[in-house]
Amino acid sequence: MFDIQEIRSQFSILDQKVNGKPLVYLDNAATSQKPDSVLTTWERYYKEINANVHRGIHTLSQLATEEMELSRRKIQKFINAKHDFEVIFTKGTTEGLNLISYILTQKLKKDDEIIISYLEHHSNIVPWQLLCERTGAKLKVIPIDEQGILQLDVFDSFLSEKTKVVSVNHVSNALGIVNPIEEIIAKTRKNTDAYIVIDGAQSAPHFVIDVQKMDCDFYVFSGHKMYAPMGTGILYGKQHILEGLPPFHGGGEMIATCSFDGTTYAGLPFKYEAGTPNVGGNIALGAAVDFILRVGQENIQKHENALLEYAQRKLLELDGIKIYGEKANRTGVVSFNLEGVGIASDVGMILDKLGIAVRTGHHCTQPIMDFFNIAGTVRASFAVYNEFHEIDLLVEGVKKAQKMLS
Ligand code: ALA
Repeated sequence: MFDIQEIRSQFSILDQKVNGKPLVYLDNAATSQKPDSVLTTWERYYKEINANVHRGIHTLSQLATEEMELSRRKIQKFINAKHDFEVIFTKGTTEGLNLISYILTQKLKKDDEIIISYLEHHSNIVPWQLLCERTGAKLKVIPIDEQGILQLDVFDSFLSEKTKVVSVNHVSNALGIVNPIEEIIAKTRKNTDAYIVIDGAQSAPHFVIDVQKMDCDFYVFSGHKMYAPMGTGILYGKQHILEGLPPFHGGGEMIATCSFDGTTYAGLPFKYEAGTPNVGGNIALGAAVDFILRVGQENIQKHENALLEYAQRKLLELDGIKIYGEKANRTGVVSFNLEGVGIASDVGMILDKLGIAVRTGHHCTQPIMDFFNIAGTVRASFAVYNEFHEIDLLVEGVKKAQKMLS
């Protein structure tokens, strides 16, 4: 039974006024709000357990270790990883992508190719550019059409024995477009030995994720976009691949033995978890998974799709509105501009005065903005606690902005 008021009651932050108006929070692709269960789990860790993990013989250290490893197993189940040690705690998607691109350095040489897409966030562009600088490899970019849809015939023509990495997002953060990753992965497997990396920052909060079925080599996502604290994230990597690659950060926790003659490394997942982890955050990420499973992933998807469909329909009733990727398969995001009216940030500021939080600008996806020849968009993005009447308020606000700015 999906009870939106019961869900909203778990997010006390939503129950406030901003600029004298009830908060309408539609910036969930940037970060989601956190339910009480996540906050109390985090607080309880610091109030009752706080100790370093995997290091101490004492009771609190063991308790902290048990809770963090329990959380790892919850996440393993959540993404259907084969082993819990394939689940690496990170700071977020950006760290995950930087980690992968760094540890692949020795696997690439001059003139090898890395394929990404036009729809990537800067965090799935820049680490690969840096890898190209280190190795002499070249970046190939799958183009998009006017709807923002990836041109897979061009992707086909890119695939060759030179392809060493294919890294694409599951869902575009700027436009909400759901990319056909099943097809991309199947084509890559059929034609190359490339490593396949999926940026799941915008899909893990919305979809059932099954990394084994997907058959990607790496899948990365952030906790803070799926109701968990900031500074949490996950890198999933296949066991045999992670075991064959070098470490990223060196330090405590990631060694088996360390002497001045040399160091040997710990097994997975610790090889990739140097230093003291974000224990409270990682445990709270497990609580966020519990929250999602309690609400039900099908319910979440159904509700968010209905919100998106409603928002798009209502916005298109206005004159002079341009929705990017209007006809593409999308989830959770509507990204738009008012034709001939001001700039996106002006619209965002007017909405903010009405208590409505949206993101405006290039959304860390400048190539997409360049493609559409715009500086930015207004982006409304949805989470499980959003209501239909909030979309009405958004549309009213956009109408007001249109009047004020024209
Ligand atoms: N990547 C986040 C966004 O799309 C911050 O807003």
